Amino acid sequence: MNYQVIIPAAGLGKRMGAGINKLLLKLEDRPIILHTLDTFIQDPDCQKIIVVINESDQHFFEDHLQKHQWEKITLAKGGEERQYSVLNGLEVADPEGVILVHDGARPFVQKAVIAQLVQSAVQSGAAIAAVPVKDTIKKTEGLHVVETINRSSLWQVQTPQAFRFSLLYQAHKQAKKDQFLGTDDSSLVERLGHSVQIVQSDYDNIKLTTPEDLFFAKAIMEKRLKI
Ligand code: CTP
Ligand code: MG
Repeated sequence: MNYQVIIPAAGLGKRMGAGINKLLLKLEDRPIILHTLDTFIQDPDCQKIIVVINESDQHFFEDHLQKHQWEKITLAKGGEERQYSVLNGLEVADPEGVILVHDGARPFVQKAVIAQLVQSAVQSGAAIAAVPVKDTIKKTEGLHVVETINRSSLWQVQTPQAFRFSLLYQAHKQAKKDQFLGTDDSSLVERLGHSVQIVQSDYDNIKLTTPEDLFFAKAIMEKRLKI
């Protein structure tokens, strides 16, 4: 089933502490963002890839676009917050069908998960990738434990997140109007009262956030090469 994807890639990578956008750091022989893009470039169901970027990274992306002739890729301008980067991506998307949002910082997303998300979003309007929480989670006041939350109902949410275009666009415009900042796209849809479905993903689909994540990423790459 056809879909388009927005890839927010306009962060600063502050927690990675590399002094440059973390997505340009190399994993094995290539920048992280190129690993992420590969999955969507190679997927024939993916009709359009909107990469949202910083002005300072524009040369890097334009060079690669020219070199590889990636016809599916369109560039959009980053916003102050991730949420506004996604909204800028929505403004240049085709206003129909299913749209995915997938962090540039998650290079290990699996094709099967993407296909399930698209199918679920076609049927229900909104679907998100997630994995069951492994740790026990406690609610606190300061460092004082107030409650142990039943783990069987907790999911750790990832991207991709898939939506009917019209639903996601409406959710983003409403959030902006209300000056609401969510930590993911699903939360903007949830506050409209729309239901969201979970698609079980895998624990490899990590977001590269802090320096130790680069070691985990290397291990995941090695594991995959052995399969
Ligand atoms: N992102 C974006 N626009 C922003 C902020 C983030 O497009 N204004 C993108 C990042 O490039 C990343 C994804 O959103 O692919 C998830 O964000 P995060 O992991 O927080 O990356 P950074 O914001 O770059 O990192 P940090 O928060 O440590 O600065
Ligand atoms: Mg950030």
